[in-house]
Amino acid sequence: MFAGMDYVDPVKKSGVKRKIVFAACLVMLCITMIKLSPSFGSPSPFSRHEAGVTHVLVTGGAGYIGSHAALRLLRDSHRVTIVDNLSRGNLGAVKVLQNLFPEPGRLQFIYADLGDPKAVNKIFSENAFDAVMHFAAVAYVGESTLDPLKYYHNITSNTLVVLEAMATHNVNTLIYSSTCATYGEPDKMPITEETPQHPINPYGKAKKMAEDIILDFHKNSDMAVMILRYFNVIGSDPDGRLGEAPRPELREHGRISGACFDAARGITNGLKVRGTDYKTADGTCIRDYIDVTDLVDAHVKALEKAQPGEVGIYNVGTGRGRSVNEFVKACKMATGVNIKVDFLPRRPGDYAEVFSDPSKILRELNWSAQYTDLEKSLRVAWRWQKLHLNGYGPSKV
Ligand SMILES: NC(=O)c1ccc[n+]([C@@H]2O[C@H](COP(=O)([O-])OP(=O)(O)OC[C@H]3O[C@@H](n4cnc5c(N)ncnc54)[C@H](O)[C@@H]3O)[C@@H](O)[C@H]2O)c1
Ligand SMILES: *[C@@H]1O[C@H](CO)[C@@H](O)[C@H](O)[C@H]1NC(C)=O
Ligand SMILES: *[C@@H]1O[C@H](CO)[C@@H](O)[C@H](O)[C@H]1NC(C)=O
Ligand SMILES: *[C@@H]1O[C@H](CO)[C@@H](O)[C@H](O)[C@H]1NC(C)=O
Repeated sequence: MFAGMDYVDPVKKSGVKRKIVFAACLVMLCITMIKLSPSFGSPSPFSRHEAGVTHVLVTGGAGYIGSHAALRLLRDSHRVTIVDNLSRGNLGAVKVLQNLFPEPGRLQFIYADLGDPKAVNKIFSENAFDAVMHFAAVAYVGESTLDPLKYYHNITSNTLVVLEAMATHNVNTLIYSSTCATYGEPDKMPITEETPQHPINPYGKAKKMAEDIILDFHKNSDMAVMILRYFNVIGSDPDGRLGEAPRPELREHGRISGACFDAARGITNGLKVRGTDYKTADGTCIRDYIDVTDLVDAHVKALEKAQPGEVGIYNVGTGRGRSVNEFVKACKMATGVNIKVDFLPRRPGDYAEVFSDPSKILRELNWSAQYTDLEKSLRVAWRWQKLHLNGYGPSKV
């Protein structure tokens, strides 16, 4: 009996054990199934590296340049993750891209703020990025003089957050959006990459500081860094899929092409040209206008040529300056509207003449501007503007 009880008891115990093990297995199976189910989307193609596929994190990919870059990367068969908090970009641009590339593992959009290190770290731990193109920023010179902290926060500090996440998660290629505004107003034209950087507004200073942080970090790491200093970006996708649609409230700070189009559409009462007494041929400011299609091509070439431990700094411009008067003339031709032009006194903080020497990027990356017909670039952009009178429409998440 006792022996029997001794015998029965272990059976009962092991029976309980077996039930527990069985239940545990069931629970684990359920968890696995939930994880595998597409609605949970867990072993996502974005979370693992794949041979032959470059997974690029495009910050600010809902914005003007970032969306064009994402389109080009996707067309080149790269995998793209866009992170944007839509403070200035458009969900509509992301939707256009999603409709063009609906296949799984091509494009994902993550709504997040780069000023939030926890959110950024989570994104980096859940995704296997091969490279980062960091476009996200606030980017209006005039606004930067009115609200400098916004610029140091959303440019310099956010770049630090991105860089720290890259370092922590071993993402070793960075293509950084910088600007000719980091040069300030040099006395010698054209601007080469060796031209001393003396930015004269918070936008240029914030970008210069971000460059310095990246370069200091780079000295002690094997990161592949490409810093691209863009001149004035114009134009849009030649196939009309994407365009430039800044927030209406930013109109007053806006760039010249937007101002021309707004005047052509009658949204504003003509165009205000500020400053006709600069020391230039026709008295108006001279800038170097680079088409966004060319600019994006420079990013792709920079990505291809990026080498671990190396840093490349390049001007991205046409090498040719055009006056505001020339620009306005091209805009009138492109829109077919005889835009009314008011000539006003200079705007503080504007410099007379800025244009690039793009020979280094030609020499080292075999890149040069191809879309150099101002009127043609503006015609492409104008076509999109006319077909999208409300931009991408309301941007809600
Ligand atoms: N447009 C130009 O002429 C020009 C010239 C030189 C340099 N750049 C640089 O190119 C980059 C892109 O400029 P753009 O003209 O496309 O500007 P944009 O405003 O159209 O795009 C910037 C994007 O970044 C996003 N963003 C901003 N702060 C963010 C944050 N904290 N978290 C997440 N997303 C955020 C915005 O929502 C927006 O979609 C910027 O870095 C800008 O400084 C632009
Ligand atoms: C930039 O940062 C400031 C905080 O300094 C914040 O209030 C503002 O909303 C940010 N702007 C954008 C456009 O992200
Ligand atoms: C976007 O990010 C900025 C910080 O860079 C923040 O101040 C702002 O509130 C955010 N906007 C949205 C809509 O999340
Ligand atoms: C440089 O680019 C041109 C096209 O822009 C191409 O024809 C040429 O083969 C390229 N040269 C090299 C060395 O890659």
